[in-house]
Amino acid sequence: MRFDILTLFPEIFTGYLGQSLLRRAIDKGLVEVYLHNIRDWSPDKKHKKVDDRPYGGGPGMVLRVDCVVPCVEAVQSMVPEPGHLVMLTPQGRRLTQAVVRQLAQQSRLLLLCGRYEGFDERVRLLLRPDEISIGDYVLNGGEVAAMVVIDAVIRLVPGVVGDPEGPQWDSFSEKMPGLEFAQYTRPREYRGLGVPEVLLSGDHGKIAQWRKENSLQRTRQRRADLLGESAPPTPPPQNPPLH
Ligand code: ADE
Repeated sequence: MRFDILTLFPEIFTGYLGQSLLRRAIDKGLVEVYLHNIRDWSPDKKHKKVDDRPYGGGPGMVLRVDCVVPCVEAVQSMVPEPGHLVMLTPQGRRLTQAVVRQLAQQSRLLLLCGRYEGFDERVRLLLRPDEISIGDYVLNGGEVAAMVVIDAVIRLVPGVVGDPEGPQWDSFSEKMPGLEFAQYTRPREYRGLGVPEVLLSGDHGKIAQWRKENSLQRTRQRRADLLGESAPPTPPPQNPPLH
């Protein structure tokens, strides 16, 4: 799968691109990531300006259409296969695991990251991107959101996650429509807290039943909305004092 990231700040991605799961996927040839600096397509050859004040006044700066559109078109035509264009914006449809599954069907994604007060509206009108938001809060730019998209999508690219069964059991997936059940590993006891006996029993039928019930109970407690039930807002839990 190929990702083309269009951004004013390509250096934000360097640490992330070197991180283990993605790095291994790139090294194995399963994933390709290319960074493109939108500034390189500025019509202002001298100062490389990419933004300007909004018509009508108001705070902040707006990304120029005559910079963004040529950049997207040039990146699209770098390889014969056209990419699915995603614009990262708080105004987009919400990223959910279902949307991640849709995006993972594509073999090439272009991720267009905004900054400042947003894009000139004509970028949307001309390019008709798939606008995606990672949540109802405003980031300083689309870069972190693009990393979230890549991180979630590559888990579904065959071969990227070591155990091919793994992602099928992630929360929100087909086999796990709610939240994932509680997990335990060694030590068997820690600060007086043990492990549920059933998980030590070796009885796979009983373990599967416990996990199903645990998953349902957690989902009902934490995210009743996922079960189509209404849930009262929960106050943030108090952290216990440190040892
Ligand atoms: N850019 C700024 N805020 C964003 C958000 N919540 N999701 C995606 N892109 C964004």
